[in-house]
Amino acid sequence: MPSTNPTEISPAELARQREYASQVRELLACQGYEEQPLAFVHTYGCQGNEADSERIRGLLRGCGYGLTGDRERASLILYNTCAIREHAEDRVFGNVGRLKARRQADRRLRVALCGCMVQQGHVAEKLRQSFPFVDLVFGTHAIHRLPELLYRMYSTGRRVYEIPEEAGTIAEGLPIQRESAAKAWLPVMYGCDNYCSYCVVPLVRGRERSRKPEAVLSEARELIAAGYQEITLLGQNVNSYRALSEAGEDYDFPRLLRELDAMEGGFWLRFMTSHPKDCSPALLDVMAGGRHIARHLHLPVQSGNDEILRAMNRKYTAAQYIEVVDYARRAMPGLSITSDIIVGFPGESDAQFRDTLALVERVKYTSLFTFIFSPRQGTRAASLPDSVPRDEKVRRLRELTALQESIAAARCAEMPGKALRLLCEGKGKRLALAGRGEGNQIVEFDGPEDLIGQFVHVRITNVMNWLLDGELTEK
Ligand code: 5AD
Ligand code: SF4
Repeated sequence: MPSTNPTEISPAELARQREYASQVRELLACQGYEEQPLAFVHTYGCQGNEADSERIRGLLRGCGYGLTGDRERASLILYNTCAIREHAEDRVFGNVGRLKARRQADRRLRVALCGCMVQQGHVAEKLRQSFPFVDLVFGTHAIHRLPELLYRMYSTGRRVYEIPEEAGTIAEGLPIQRESAAKAWLPVMYGCDNYCSYCVVPLVRGRERSRKPEAVLSEARELIAAGYQEITLLGQNVNSYRALSEAGEDYDFPRLLRELDAMEGGFWLRFMTSHPKDCSPALLDVMAGGRHIARHLHLPVQSGNDEILRAMNRKYTAAQYIEVVDYARRAMPGLSITSDIIVGFPGESDAQFRDTLALVERVKYTSLFTFIFSPRQGTRAASLPDSVPRDEKVRRLRELTALQESIAAARCAEMPGKALRLLCEGKGKRLALAGRGEGNQIVEFDGPEDLIGQFVHVRITNVMNWLLDGELTEK
């Protein structure tokens, strides 16, 4: 089936937003700030949200704000929220609640919320009823209209709620204020059509839509020219990427990845997330033949039991998942694989949980993200009868984590003396610096701070369970 590209927000609309941005700058100038007003943006949740926040920061700068990491100095506090689990939502409500007294005491402070959580009608309603001091609430489909919304908020002095239903559009050309000078997020597609039965993402992020290949390729070229060392391609399911180029050529994800990999430079390419049902041999072959593609595959399995996988609507069996893993490891010996697992899905029996342990034992992941099932309003799994007590779910989570820790420790025990190339990401907890290897392993080592953001070579010197220490080497 030939692809059709989604509608892009028109240049006229983007120009209208730039006009609003200049009006917000004027309004802020009239508010009598002695110095440039500052905005504090905090992001919950996944890398997709991080990427959105970088666009939000870019738009805020265009509206005349400076950016600060210090909430206390900010005159605009914005939380970009996550809806994936109840715990994430509780943290947001708690943090927003704590701003109430300060908002009431400081006439100039403004509080804004956006992202997946507020895209849900019942949350927006709760904010409206119980959080009257929140000034601005906007959903995931309204980010590009932030200048207009800020203008409405300042010019009317009233609360602004803007939660459009799925627009199915893509906004290209927004200003981006990136967090890091070394690592960049590069969204290739938005939304998700998979409807896993536990997952709220399709309800808040809308239908799948892919960026044009030219947009992705030219953003990557700019990042490489600007010296970025690592580019992570983002999408809820990058393997669903499908778009037509301007010349009418059909691009799928393996083709896009191959063209990105052909670019010159010393950078690493990563991508996430891959749905196992469409992690094809073609994709793994491109990875195996790649020059820049990190030998790391994040392949969320969620469960090792076929009945639970069916109830989750994952569309693969444990055996099919293992086939993908085996193919990938044959094509790329030493490949690092990581995963996400949910324990305590409604009705999960102990025997079904043991299938998950067996799969983890078989695959030997580098690391795992483990979660207790959290019912999300509007999803199919939220209405399933659930006979598993909470204590039992917690016990399963602990058992799974302990198993993964022993697997990671055994893997790490083989590491002393090995040489690794790392991207130095920042300060360490035990040693001066911390870096991440191609397979996503974190290693700490001593060295000067100006190595942050650079590739370095280390030899592993010491292992404590699954923590790795190294020392710098020439190469
Ligand atoms: N409850 C628990 N974990 C969830 N995830 C997604 N939805 C839920 C939920 N309702 C997990 C999945 C997914 C990861 C990003 O979050 O494992 O891969
Ligand atoms: Fe959620 Fe499944 Fe889509 Fe991932 S693939 S975002 S788990 S619905």
